Amino acid sequence: MVFSASDISVLICGESGTGKEVVANAIHRHSPRKNNPFVVVNCGAIPENLLESELFGHEKGAFTGAHAQKKGKFELAHTGTLFLDEIGELAPPLQVKLLRFLQDRRIERVGGTQPVEVDVRIVAATNRDLKKDMENHVFREDLYYRLKVVPLDMPPLRERKDDIVPLAQYFLTHFCQEHRKPAMSLSPEAEGALLMHPWQGNVRELQNLISRAVVLSPRSVLKPSDLGFAFDAIPTQVNLKSAKQAIEIDFVKKALARNRGIVSRAAKELGISRVNLYELIDKYGIHVKEFKLSKTGEKSELNQGR
Ligand SMILES: Nc1ncnc2c1ncn2[C@@H]1O[C@H](COP(=O)(O)OP(=O)(O)O)[C@@H](O)[C@H]1O
Ligand SMILES: [Mg+2]
Repeated sequence: MVFSASDISVLICGESGTGKEVVANAIHRHSPRKNNPFVVVNCGAIPENLLESELFGHEKGAFTGAHAQKKGKFELAHTGTLFLDEIGELAPPLQVKLLRFLQDRRIERVGGTQPVEVDVRIVAATNRDLKKDMENHVFREDLYYRLKVVPLDMPPLRERKDDIVPLAQYFLTHFCQEHRKPAMSLSPEAEGALLMHPWQGNVRELQNLISRAVVLSPRSVLKPSDLGFAFDAIPTQVNLKSAKQAIEIDFVKKALARNRGIVSRAAKELGISRVNLYELIDKYGIHVKEFKLSKTGEKSELNQGR
């Protein structure tokens, strides 16, 4: 990661659970700041009125309850990296303050009069369409471009199919060790089921699913049902063949029943020749007699022809 070495801002975009925080952390750990603080602030989780002092700190007496000077996350992240998660939730006044920091690398504590110089690298993340927010004037355009000097897109897990099985195996090893259980593996059917799942919750959903399976499964080779999928058997050719046969038997029997065992009429209804229907009757050992109703007195074709 070339950009890890520098101080330039990174904006990571992607759905929830795709690993944005994992990437932010990796950027920090691969940068010259790696031995310094990595500070995380979730901008969407803190009420707007508290977020300002959370980020920028406050002076004593800045507001009711501000009994002492308090350092904000910017100062705590000094010489390190500040990860601003859910940056799209940042209120406009705080967007201005963040922009000012990005321009002159100085912040002002709430109630403060002197700017404080801080050396902080900003990595921001969002699951929103910030470009659209910018076009709708919800997110400042100047801030948008300042943040996304290096833009990173985290694709959803369903578009990273190659990652699914290796990640699942990684989580299996991890959770087996954590729960002191013997090593587990995935059956080919379980791998197939994982690959077909839509993963709306991305890597987080996969992680939770494997964690549950490790705790609950008594088996060491996990089947799809151990992972919470409904079926253990992925349709294979053999099953398709038997399904086709079952449908044929069903159709033949129903046609015979409707036509009271008269093969020529049943064949006509089924759209096949009489000869073909006899072949099917033979193949599946169907007893035509059972479909004949004595009360009709109709002559039995079976009795005639076979
Ligand atoms: N490449 C990965 N390897 C291991 N764990 C991962 C990976 N990507 C994501 N995770 C795990 O998935 C979960 C969601 O990742 P996170 O970075 O919090 O996603 P986001 O910030 O995009 O919502 C976390 O528990 C994280 O540890
Ligand atoms: Mg996150």
